[in-house]
Amino acid sequence: MRIIITEDYKAMSTMAARLVAGQLYLKPKSVLGLATGSTPIGLYHNLIDIHRTIGLDFSEAISFNLDEYIGINRNDVHSYHYFMYENLFNSINIKPENVFIPNGCAADLEAECRHYDNLITSMGGIDLQILGIGNNAHIGFNEPDVKFEATTHKVKLDNETIAANSRFFSSVEAVPKYAISMGIRTIMLAKKIILLANGKNKAEAIYKTIYGGITPKAPASILQLHQDVVIIVDREAASLLPHDSTHNCILSV
Ligand code: PGA
Repeated sequence: MRIIITEDYKAMSTMAARLVAGQLYLKPKSVLGLATGSTPIGLYHNLIDIHRTIGLDFSEAISFNLDEYIGINRNDVHSYHYFMYENLFNSINIKPENVFIPNGCAADLEAECRHYDNLITSMGGIDLQILGIGNNAHIGFNEPDVKFEATTHKVKLDNETIAANSRFFSSVEAVPKYAISMGIRTIMLAKKIILLANGKNKAEAIYKTIYGGITPKAPASILQLHQDVVIIVDREAASLLPHDSTHNCILSV
């Protein structure tokens, strides 16, 4: 794992955007795995800037999103589909036919999950996966569990996740209880992974990800087994890591 500790959210987002831009520059046909939530918004806004200023080209890029709520229509403002178009896709030149997000309203959710995994495989797998992390160390919507769920699957969301995500809804009750999520194996098959985290409330999850035992109770800990992971965190999210965090630094683990 490579751990990059940045001064703040802005620096974290800029650094992540440079790595994604580098990937696309070297391989315009990259398959990107993308995430939703507050964390990657700065990254996406930086990518839009790079697209506008130096013409970073997404015309051949393919994207797969990590997850989607079940039972929320794609045009609903709370859907992850809506989020991705609003925060990134509407402002870059990615082709809509190259954008894949699980359909949380599919009549047959089991078939939708199989279809999603098959699509990822048929595109040659994910070149670069972006991850946020939950306060409970979930990645995608792989919640703490007794085992790692391998493939794309239906998930019952943890109460902690529902509470955390209620800030985007009118009430806790309005947050969907189920979602479709890429599985751990699907994520681990990505050639490169960038995990982003900012803020004090992520510090414990980041500590467990890097230094905790590898356990499905802290799903992100599986990343210790991946050969090309970069974790970019701001100082607050790094606050429980054993190092002198007074300066930006790169720590190799
Ligand atoms: P956040 O969510 O970026 O909104 O904190 C991250 C996650 O739950 O994976």
